Amino acid sequence: MKKILVIGAVGQIGSELVPLLRTKYGNENVVAAGHSKKPTDDLANAGPFEFVNVLDKESVETVVKDHGIDTIYNLAAILSATGEQKPQLAYNVNNNGYFNILEIGREQELERIMTPSSIAAFGPETPRDNTPNETILKPTTMYGITKVTGELLGNYYFQKYGLDVRGLRYPGIISSETPPGGGTTDYSIEMYYAAVKGEHYTSFLGEGSALPMMYMPDALKAIVDLAEADISKLTHHSDFNVNAMSFAPEELATSIQKECPEFTVDYKPDFRQAIADSWPKSLDDSAARQEWNWKPGYDLKAMTKDMIEKLTPKLTGE
Ligand SMILES: NC(=O)c1ccc[n+]([C@@H]2O[C@H](COP(=O)([O-])OP(=O)(O)OC[C@H]3O[C@@H](n4cnc5c(N)ncnc54)[C@H](O)[C@@H]3O)[C@@H](O)[C@H]2O)c1
Repeated sequence: MKKILVIGAVGQIGSELVPLLRTKYGNENVVAAGHSKKPTDDLANAGPFEFVNVLDKESVETVVKDHGIDTIYNLAAILSATGEQKPQLAYNVNNNGYFNILEIGREQELERIMTPSSIAAFGPETPRDNTPNETILKPTTMYGITKVTGELLGNYYFQKYGLDVRGLRYPGIISSETPPGGGTTDYSIEMYYAAVKGEHYTSFLGEGSALPMMYMPDALKAIVDLAEADISKLTHHSDFNVNAMSFAPEELATSIQKECPEFTVDYKPDFRQAIADSWPKSLDDSAARQEWNWKPGYDLKAMTKDMIEKLTPKLTGE
């Protein structure tokens, strides 16, 4: 029987991953763990809910033992934009916090640890178009440095201790449920919110900044499919590229304007532009496709239609 702990459950991805896992494995079998943010009533009441701090190893160990956990999804992290403002915190949470999770996995002989990496693992010297799975990993952001470290540590724990650690390099994730937590691709979600509220939007990334992106239903499918993949088919473990779509801010604006013709945008790049400039435009995800049958379901047009349908009642009451 699977007993899953999702750490970082109140964040952008966790708040949607927990209900999906609860539907799949049963409410009582998925423990959601928050940190500082108050959970929604649904997240806190539909199944077990705890507070943990990945920097306090004992707080995680206690939950693992009390609930008989065998699988951890570790989503606790400081993201790219916040990480550039607070690099020491990003180093601490993303590296030392993750090290605690791996150690708990080793000591408690857990079945599996799932941890997302990011396209931030790449850097300005990485080929930017159709970026291969195996390539130059020399990021220039603290977030990226912690993500490369996380990938290497995950692979190390698998090789040295046989701990089944799996991870994928998420592109920017777009969703309508929970606001994003301080990433460089947050502009895209802000753009949808502004369009639905009938407001003008000023993008903090400039025109031409194409980046790989993914809609939340695909992001959830990717991590769950990878978790369920037959280990004998996996050559990679902690570092799968996953691609879905790529667009620049003005392409997203055009897609939104097809649904909301009055929507207007202008562009005032800030410090996040330098982060975006160091990332790829699109990814070669053939390893994920071959090893665990990865295939995205949403393109830009389908995502825009769904985002506007979901955000309209939420933001306008219509
Ligand atoms: N959202 C994206 O676009 C994106 C893209 C690439 C990779 N990722 C990765 O996916 C994972 C989840 O990202 P997200 O977008 O949900 O992030 P988020 O910022 O929305 O959520 C992260 C959660 O971690 C929690 N947290 C922070 N410090 C903690 C600590 N010390 N102990 C326990 N919890 C702590 C926060 O409270 C927050 O709820 C991260 O590993 C992130 O790097 C996300």
